[in-house]
Amino acid sequence: MKPLLIGPFSQLLPMTGLPLKGALKDEQLPIIENGGIVVSEGKIVAIGIFGDLKSNEVDIHQIEGKTVCLPGFVDSHTHICFAGNRARDYAFRNAGKSYLEIAKAGGGIWDTVTQTRKATQEELVAGIVSRSKTHLRNGLTTIEVKSGYGLSVDEELKMLRAIKLANEKVAATLVPTCLAAHMKPKDWNHQTEYLEEINTTLFPILKSENLAHRIDAFVEESAFSPAEIQPYFQKAKAMGFDITVHADQFTTGGSQVAVDFGAVSADHLEASTEKEIQLLAKSETIATALPGASLGLGCAYTPARRILDAGGALSIASDHNPGSAPMGDLLTQSSILGAFEKLSNTEVLAGITFRAAAALRLSDRGKLETGTWADFVIFPTDNYQDITYYQGQMKPSEVWKKGEPIHQND
Ligand code: NIG
Ligand code: FE
Repeated sequence: MKPLLIGPFSQLLPMTGLPLKGALKDEQLPIIENGGIVVSEGKIVAIGIFGDLKSNEVDIHQIEGKTVCLPGFVDSHTHICFAGNRARDYAFRNAGKSYLEIAKAGGGIWDTVTQTRKATQEELVAGIVSRSKTHLRNGLTTIEVKSGYGLSVDEELKMLRAIKLANEKVAATLVPTCLAAHMKPKDWNHQTEYLEEINTTLFPILKSENLAHRIDAFVEESAFSPAEIQPYFQKAKAMGFDITVHADQFTTGGSQVAVDFGAVSADHLEASTEKEIQLLAKSETIATALPGASLGLGCAYTPARRILDAGGALSIASDHNPGSAPMGDLLTQSSILGAFEKLSNTEVLAGITFRAAAALRLSDRGKLETGTWADFVIFPTDNYQDITYYQGQMKPSEVWKKGEPIHQND
């Protein structure tokens, strides 16, 4: 079969030639007018001006009308494996109830743990597949998915096996992460014993069944302290897992742990001060903003502008979960974060493409260049500025994954 030339696109944004860290101006954004992409076996073999790529050696897939094409979006932090709904928590919060009052009324993360434990593995698979399909239509071609609503060896395994099975059923790539350290499970008296059980029993199974190569923990006063999580992360690192941290959401401390362990990313950071911003900016750890959690909780945004100006790498993710971030619309959320934090279009788009891919240690996506997967999204406009301007309401006209059109709007 001949390689396939796809185009022409009014504007093709390859998201290449941009640094991983620091502020980005829109003048730096490479734009190929009337661009084309040549694909073979799911990967990009050439990219450039459509007319220059035409030859007898390629078949052509003609794109009509005004179009902006850019890499498929990467959501580097979600919790889309869950059962149930926490609308009651949302109403309680908006009625001014405290975290403690909500927990006492049976709400909070533990409520979702209870509901997720009741669900079968098949029900969890169906939920992940359905949410992933919605995300795919919105342009997300790679989606990280955490466990963390099981909080026992068997229940975490049920979640991670469900994520693995769902990955085989959806066109998007799902990247699993073990978040067994999401909160202290209420059915364990000794929390350190719980973490040890996860270390010694669950971690080897994650390896043998190839269920996850990433370990996350919620480092927070209401979850695990830096001291409690240290031996846990030490063992995870020694076994070769990548580390990622729910850090500085309400109180600081988590980002220091993330940097100390050389974590791939530190996520949340709404409470980070100048000290944590400098710490992250000097490190290799990607700072991940989660505007969906700020919108869901009515809290401050991650100081994204200051992180970028300090020289940090900024990913933007949805945190899609039933408690703090039920909306789950990455493009809407990142556009809104851009408006509040004064981010350039290039910084927003970098945060949901190659910088988000780097937060998952993936270099084969998030950019359109020779050798990367042909994962791309097409918007029905000839001006890329429209993408953030419509704050997620302009939907992709097409989404392609590994060189195949997997979604087309009517
Ligand atoms: O990232 N902060 C901790 N975990 C999730 C919330 C999960 C939930 O409320 O169910 C978060 O926001
Ligand atoms: Fe989260």
